[in-house]
Amino acid sequence: MANAEFLHFRPARLADAAAVAALHADSWRRHYRDAYSDAFLDGDVSADRVAVWKDRLSVATGRDHTLLAEQRGVVVGFVHTILGEDPIWGALLDNLHVTYSHKRRGIGARLLKLSAEIVINQAPGSGLHLWVLEQNRPAQAFYQALGGACVERGVVPAPGGVPGRLNGSPACLRYAWPEPRNLLRT
Ligand SMILES: CC(C)(COP(=O)(O)OP(=O)(O)OC[C@H]1O[C@@H](n2cnc3c(N)ncnc32)[C@H](O)[C@@H]1OP(=O)(O)O)[C@@H](O)C(=O)NCCC(=O)NCCS
Repeated sequence: MANAEFLHFRPARLADAAAVAALHADSWRRHYRDAYSDAFLDGDVSADRVAVWKDRLSVATGRDHTLLAEQRGVVVGFVHTILGEDPIWGALLDNLHVTYSHKRRGIGARLLKLSAEIVINQAPGSGLHLWVLEQNRPAQAFYQALGGACVERGVVPAPGGVPGRLNGSPACLRYAWPEPRNLLRT
């Protein structure tokens, strides 16, 4: 694990919207191609992500929690968690991305565990779940390594509700931790 001692984790602020959006757009371009259309990934994705993150980070809802991983003042990962999103599966981990050059250094695992801690502390008794593209096998291996169980297959919703941003009807898989406390033991 390289340079782990310089890692710092903190809640995101509105001033972080551009950095989070840039990481998010870059990660989608690298990892979501085929499921998301080239026209979207090579076109509107940056503006779309800036708008989404400015919107999200401008309002404190109490349900939405965005945490950043920073290294020497540079954002190298983020996780967004929404409490109480599903009556069965509980909190939704809506986004988890690590800067491409910083993958496989334990940053994703730290962020996922921090998301679980938020759920444990702020929504006792709630589970934690997420959706991952069926094509995204490396992320599935990551979730399995952290004790997640694949419980359902679904269809990917179009980003922003715009059907042209998808290629056809790609599939996604729900991974769940009914007991988020177990995640902290991995
Ligand atoms: C998926 C992602 C968040 C994981 O974060 P990360 O910091 O790279 O992962 P970590 O270093 O914390 O990995 C922890 C463990 O998960 C497993 N793992 C992680 N990446 C893996 C891979 N590509 N293949 C197999 N196992 C993997 C390993 O067991 C790893 O431990 P090890 O490195 O000691 O073997 C990150 O790779 C990423 O941002 N990917 C692109 C965006 C994405 O797919 N996000 C998920 C959307 S649902």
